[in-house]
Amino acid sequence: MLLLRAVAGRRLPVPLPPPPRRSCPRAGAASLAPGSPPGAGGRGRAAPVLAALLGLGAVLAYGERRRRAAQATQAAPAPRYPLYTREEVGRHRSPPDRVWVTHGTEVFDVTDFVELHPGGADKILLAAGGALEPFWALYAVHHQPHVLELLREYKVGELSPEEAAVPAPAAGDPFAGDPPRHPGLRVNSQKPFNAEPPPELLAERFLTPNELFFTRNHLPVPAVDAETYRLRVEGPGGRELSLSLEELRSRFPKHEVTATLQCAGNRRADMSRVRPVKGLDWDIGAIGTARWGGARLRDVLLHAGFGERPEGEWHVCFEGLDADVGGAPYGASIPYGKAVSPEGDVLLAYEMNGAALPRDHGFPLRAVVPGVVGARNVKWLRRVAVSPAESPSHWQQSDYKGFAPCVDWDTVDYSAAPAIQELPVQSAITQPRPGAAVPPGELTVKGYAWSGGGRGVVRVDVSLDGGRSWRVARLAGERQEPGRAWAWTLWELQAPVAAGAGELEIVCKAVDSSYNVQPDTVAPIWNLRGVLSNAWHRVRVSVRP
Ligand code: MTE
Repeated sequence: MLLLRAVAGRRLPVPLPPPPRRSCPRAGAASLAPGSPPGAGGRGRAAPVLAALLGLGAVLAYGERRRRAAQATQAAPAPRYPLYTREEVGRHRSPPDRVWVTHGTEVFDVTDFVELHPGGADKILLAAGGALEPFWALYAVHHQPHVLELLREYKVGELSPEEAAVPAPAAGDPFAGDPPRHPGLRVNSQKPFNAEPPPELLAERFLTPNELFFTRNHLPVPAVDAETYRLRVEGPGGRELSLSLEELRSRFPKHEVTATLQCAGNRRADMSRVRPVKGLDWDIGAIGTARWGGARLRDVLLHAGFGERPEGEWHVCFEGLDADVGGAPYGASIPYGKAVSPEGDVLLAYEMNGAALPRDHGFPLRAVVPGVVGARNVKWLRRVAVSPAESPSHWQQSDYKGFAPCVDWDTVDYSAAPAIQELPVQSAITQPRPGAAVPPGELTVKGYAWSGGGRGVVRVDVSLDGGRSWRVARLAGERQEPGRAWAWTLWELQAPVAAGAGELEIVCKAVDSSYNVQPDTVAPIWNLRGVLSNAWHRVRVSVRP
């Protein structure tokens, strides 16, 4: 009966009374959405609740509450809830519109919990208007029975039964076979898919979770059968190899490298604010760090009969399985010296953070070229070729190159500029966010810093007054070998902020092991494609009175 009415009318004719509004957490309160790493609880009024949870009294009280709840459930008929579509849930994304989330087929109004969320209001809001599960998957602390039980107290509805079905992909859409993605990603373009993680999650962990790692696709994601997959390795003199995934795994030692990947277009949005540029408006998240695992390209090249130091200029060209409408595959190349150097750490990677490469990141095999621009880290590899010339691909020849600010689309000559390989020093502030109103007292500023070519970050300077005075941030992260510092450095600074300070312009700049520093402003490095955007990162916030 209920189902029939629901399908016909979508909603029950008699609306239920509004859910009770709560102003304080109950025993058993825990976080509902992202951002609550173990031990991170304790913000605001939820802290005593969490602390009490650990005490015996609270455990007993909690048990009693559960028992009573179970009895009540047996005695009372199951409440009937209104039905909502995902689209309706999606309209509730901020406290003024109420904050709704779903779990399974249930709908919850968690507006009153937002400020109590132990991981911070900003984190729970990332899930607003959508499903909790993808965020809970990132933070294991949520996988406890009392969290779900607590959540149920905020229940306001059910998803319409037909919402459970995933819509069928449109026929003829070349992107129809693309994989599902994490809803927390900020999408810059859906087809092809290009997305970055929210800045507040970016530098939370040294290794970026695979689900949140930025994705930069130029074409549809190819569907590859790992069983029949083969990589072709070719070069002059008829040297040729064809390797299955299994052969790559079993014939070559597995090598692991922690490396940061950054797109040349990271922070393009800063550049387009100075003058329009052509390209996706990436914020600060086209960068991420993973532990990559695979065969060394060096080992495969030597096995195929290529030498350590061939005479003359040689390149290793990569081709992907993704191709444009004319059949041209995505491609790029790197200098042979980088590919074959034992210190170069270039991988034919089949693993990312201990798991098989996700489809968006190149399943089953990609090139990982530490210290080198993302564009050369070719995904879905089908061919590796040793050649006296760079890759003929559009993306090597006519894109991903830097130009002077005076060059425009009428005067640009792509053959005049070298392809970007090693990237310059970079840093960005991930916390606080632009426009935030911060309380007076101790201010925490956090971010990332990285440089190409294995040059480690030796210092990050932070200013709270637009660059007039500076403090040195505390660097965190793994110790890295000089010259092979492939991974980013996360940093943090605590600084006192006086009440009445008004507006702050927070600035960061990093220094790498060659004492390269970031330029202070964007205009002198502006270029028509908006690449290599690495000026000081500036974030304006206001201090609450
Ligand atoms: N490889 C293929 N085959 N196709 C692509 O579109 N994009 C490149 C590179 N490799 C691309 C590719 C670019 S520009 C970047 S920045 C990185 O992949 C992004 O890698 P990610 O999506 O795993 O973060």
